[in-house]
Amino acid sequence: MSDKTAIAKEISRRRTFAIISHPDAGKTTLTEKFLLYGGAINLAGSVKGKKTARHAVSDWMEIEKERGISVTSSVLQFEYDGCCVNLLDTPGHQDFSEDTYRTLMAADSAVMVIDASKGVEAQTIKLFKVCVMRHIPIFTFINKMDREALDPFELMDNIESILGISTCPVNWPIGCGREFKGVYDRASESIMSFEAAMNGQKEVAEHRIPVDDSGAAESLIGSAFYEQLLEDRELLDGAGQEMDLSMVAKGELSPVFFGSALTNFGVATFLEHFLQMAPKPAPRHSDEGDIEPEEEPFSAFVFKIQANMNKAHRDRIAFMRVCSGRFDAGKEVYHVQGGKKLRLSQPQQLMAQDRKVIDEAYAGDIIGVFDPGLFSIGDTFTTPGRSFRYDGIPTFAPEHFARVRQVDTMKRKQFLKGITQIAQEGAIQIFQEFNTGMEEIIVGVVGVLQFDVLLYRLENEYNVEVKLTQLPYEYIRWIENPEEVPAASIQGTSDMKRVKDLKDRPLLLFENEWSIGMTLDRNKGLRLAEFSQN
Ligand code: G4P
Repeated sequence: MSDKTAIAKEISRRRTFAIISHPDAGKTTLTEKFLLYGGAINLAGSVKGKKTARHAVSDWMEIEKERGISVTSSVLQFEYDGCCVNLLDTPGHQDFSEDTYRTLMAADSAVMVIDASKGVEAQTIKLFKVCVMRHIPIFTFINKMDREALDPFELMDNIESILGISTCPVNWPIGCGREFKGVYDRASESIMSFEAAMNGQKEVAEHRIPVDDSGAAESLIGSAFYEQLLEDRELLDGAGQEMDLSMVAKGELSPVFFGSALTNFGVATFLEHFLQMAPKPAPRHSDEGDIEPEEEPFSAFVFKIQANMNKAHRDRIAFMRVCSGRFDAGKEVYHVQGGKKLRLSQPQQLMAQDRKVIDEAYAGDIIGVFDPGLFSIGDTFTTPGRSFRYDGIPTFAPEHFARVRQVDTMKRKQFLKGITQIAQEGAIQIFQEFNTGMEEIIVGVVGVLQFDVLLYRLENEYNVEVKLTQLPYEYIRWIENPEEVPAASIQGTSDMKRVKDLKDRPLLLFENEWSIGMTLDRNKGLRLAEFSQN
């Protein structure tokens, strides 16, 4: 087999995805079960402290420190059914959802976990919008069927009306809670029994009871549930959306699965279907057009930078997604934004609990490399001799703003260094007053807990005490066409504030949405954007 064919083969068996959910829907539990089935861990419960999301910030910091590497940044790789699966772990706490947004930029598909008793919840909506923006396939796992659940038709309606995506159930629940009988698999027209799974029949998928004239299914679930199932089936077959893989690929149709992660029910079937339907690494857009994963010998982009919480060695890890070809640890790569050839040092894969130094990786894989402070989010790496740039990663609009000052004016230098580095990691965004430069710094965050993390890190890592005064702004907009409408000339509302970002791009802060509309009305031709490309 030629080298190119061997590489293409490796790439085509990669499946890289992230799980999105509202806290408590069961993301951690499902992740654990995936790893368990993939043989990556031996015992469920070892992925991470489940209660992390509910910890106070100080506890969270302790956990980060103990672990050495952030609990927010694992990439879990395991083998299943001949596929090499990369599961991008995302933080549980919604205040760190910006991390999740960025991680989604590196995924080829997403799994949305929904609590069957709650339906679509707030956090899911936000994350879902990012997936839609990227047009990546979204698979739905409706979890906790072993508890009282909403009516399955209601759940489908809920997903369709709130998220605006069509749904197609792959399987269908029979009862729920104490009366949960199992699921009906639509393709094989058979029932997988929950009771059999509870009795430890591991190969429950093999023990399907056909829904036919034999009467076996009816006696398994009882006449009432059987009648209901036949009725539901007719409705689904008659009025439901048919499975259309081309719509799934564009993120327009979500295959839906019902199950219960805690009791292992439906997890293996989900994984099998998912790996079959989920896409292999897709081409990625650059300033030279789409780059095919199998064509270009090597390329990658940085989607996340994470400082090690260990004070003793203040190293930074840049996470990059390999987008094409093969990464070979022994070879030099080209850092396009830095204009330099270099060898990426200590390339590693980050498993739940440990790091493993690696020699090679393929398109679809995520590697963490030591960052000497040269890399930024969005940077592209290529084979020497090639210098295209992948599209940047959008900066998400912060929703909370504060003015930050150092308490000891003698520590200005440390303060600026610290805050700039933390901003480079994307943990916060910093803005300057429009006219006065770096004198006053305004920090923007997506979740308020990030303010606490900032204070903690400045004090502990940079030895700088700061004072933070929260500001009333809630909305930020980048000026898309400052050449046509200069920021200084904008006629704004009284609550509008002009600032600029680190790249000197002008932005506007507003206290409410109404003011944005008003400002647009008053300034003809002005274009405002909610996201900015790095
Ligand atoms: P998250 O990562 O999305 O925040 O959710 P996580 O997996 O931590 O699950 C949240 C809670 O829901 C946990 O209970 C978990 O055991 C439970 N859970 C997850 N999947 C299922 C399921 O299929 N059925 C049922 N009945 N419960 C499920 P907890 O009480 O908060 O934690 P623990 O005491 O179980 O550790």
